[in-house]
Amino acid sequence: EGILVEDYGDRIIVPGFVDLHVHAPQYAFRGLGMDMELLDWLETNTFPEESKYKDIIYAKKAYQIFVDNLKKSATTRACIFATIHKESTILLMDMLEKVGLATMVGKVNMDRNSPDYLREETEESVNETISWLEEVQKKQYQHTRPILTPRFIPSCTDELMHKLKDIQAKYQIPVQSHLSENYGEIAWVQELCPKSEFYGDAYDHFGLFGADAPTVMAHCVYSTEEEIQRMKENGVYVAHCPESNENLSSGIAPVKRYLEEGLSVGLGSDVAGGSTENLFRAIAHAIQMSKMRWRLVDQKYPALKSEEAFYMATKGGGSFFGKVGSFEEGYEFDAVVLDDSRLESSRQMSVKDRLERMIYLADEREVKAKYVRGNKII
Ligand code: GUN
Ligand code: FE
Repeated sequence: EGILVEDYGDRIIVPGFVDLHVHAPQYAFRGLGMDMELLDWLETNTFPEESKYKDIIYAKKAYQIFVDNLKKSATTRACIFATIHKESTILLMDMLEKVGLATMVGKVNMDRNSPDYLREETEESVNETISWLEEVQKKQYQHTRPILTPRFIPSCTDELMHKLKDIQAKYQIPVQSHLSENYGEIAWVQELCPKSEFYGDAYDHFGLFGADAPTVMAHCVYSTEEEIQRMKENGVYVAHCPESNENLSSGIAPVKRYLEEGLSVGLGSDVAGGSTENLFRAIAHAIQMSKMRWRLVDQKYPALKSEEAFYMATKGGGSFFGKVGSFEEGYEFDAVVLDDSRLESSRQMSVKDRLERMIYLADEREVKAKYVRGNKII
């Protein structure tokens, strides 16, 4: 009594999707420049675009498009990389807060192996990060939280990583980065950190690999036995980004194994390694990639079922945010109302059929309404 009831009739209501890894500034070149591997792609496409976010006018224009499209999508939560620039990162956070999406956003740290136009001095990176966190604290956002974001080991010196650890401890914030995505990248990390036993150990050396703070690592395509073991011990989350792994010819992550071993796994669009913020696509790519892995790489683990991939897009990634991604008792109410009437068929379909089909066919046009943390945002 006294609570408004909205009846959505025959539409399907599902928990909102969680994009566990996406780069907001890369949205501007989504769908472009996919004919390279990671390190060349970063130099050629990514760093030049990200440098533009020094200009707040450009950032405002570009981020508005990203935020508007994320709002229309089935995504209710996201872990987002911004750029090294403090002002435009705060602008992005203001915009996300205003539309009511629940997000963690990181000012990126980079103080080596990056072009002059997109590299900070170590002290500058530290000071800007502190100043960003102080400003964000004052804003008292309701839905938007900061997340520490060293880009990846190759772009952060040891000194910077040590200082970022101090910042993490002082401000008690979670951590996001990239891990074991590409062969060239992994070899480079081994050269840069000869003492590390494996890529993740290089983060762990600085206390930035899940032991003290919720931590999400994108990709984990080539994690070794030791790395998987450490991720398990430290509770590191995997953000599986299947479309990005295809586009950058990175490889096929053993996601079914991660699930079977009890690792926490969510899905990421990884725009602009991935071409779209539409997480229905990520669910489909995850299933399809797992079939190719089973067929071509490893028959030990079967392909993902649609239920498992749907789980990763909701409760799997959602748990990084707390009790999120499910309609079970005690969970926050993140919900998407889907209208599949555009997807005509002569067949009679069960509710499960209708949902399964949407994994392959749906986009923002099916999103009729969306609730984040109990608030209706569309
Ligand atoms: N590793 C370091 N930076 C990036 C990035 O922007 N995208 C991807 N996919 N991997 C990275
Ligand atoms: Fe990424």
